[in-house]
Amino acid sequence: MTAVPFQTSEFQRGLATNVLGRVVHFRPAVDSTNALARTLTNEGAADGTLVVTDFQTAGRGRLDRAWHAPAGTSLLFSLILRPRIAVGRFHQVTMAAGLGCVAGIARATAADARLKWPNDVTLGGRKAGGMLGEFGLRDDALDYVIVGIGLNGNFDPAGMEGIPPGAASLMTAAGLPVAREPLLRVILEEIEPRYLAVCAGESLRAEWARALETLGESVRVTTHTGSIEGVAEDVGEDGALFLRLADGSRQAVHAGDVVATRPI
Ligand code: BTN
Repeated sequence: MTAVPFQTSEFQRGLATNVLGRVVHFRPAVDSTNALARTLTNEGAADGTLVVTDFQTAGRGRLDRAWHAPAGTSLLFSLILRPRIAVGRFHQVTMAAGLGCVAGIARATAADARLKWPNDVTLGGRKAGGMLGEFGLRDDALDYVIVGIGLNGNFDPAGMEGIPPGAASLMTAAGLPVAREPLLRVILEEIEPRYLAVCAGESLRAEWARALETLGESVRVTTHTGSIEGVAEDVGEDGALFLRLADGSRQAVHAGDVVATRPI
């Protein structure tokens, strides 16, 4: 395990963005960067504000799960975004974040990153990170989107308590420790043009679909009401996964966990 304190000044050196990460709140430890981001949002934080930490005492994952990473090893951050877009386009913002992560990892490391529906980052087919998107409304309009991102960095997750079996990290995938500051810098540089495109009304659905590793495969999706099997045919503008079921019908799924299965 390579644990080194995050250096904000090193991250900011040469950061080529206009919006994302221009304001940075670094905490050596925090309950959850998403929770701190929410507080800062209520205090009027600007579009693009970055919250980053070395350690979370109550990191949150999707579906009410916890998110763990050893101190000083990983990327644990949240972006406060204030896009002037329709509420229904909220998922386009998380698509921008996911695509930016994959492109940033490709630029900064030798690891081959993909996305897995809905919001996982995978390395060599194994989960190495995830995103938690939250939004708030004001007068029925979108007020903010908080995108929290955790990427396993310089540790081996195998057998580590609190981390699901089979998880990967940038270190295990790339074979050597990664420098977190330049990685975060390029990730924000890759998210920004996609985020601005979404703000300008463009759709990232097609690029997102290409980056998703399970599209076209037979899958089982476990949702809070049970599990459903089918061929993962496509995704929608709102991030839904379209499954073709054995009876020929098509069903949209909005949340859950996907595993590949044998063809049905
Ligand atoms: C998932 O379940 O896959 C999503 C994990 C998201 C974790 C990140 S770590 C930084 C940010 N703060 C949190 O509390 N959660 C997100």
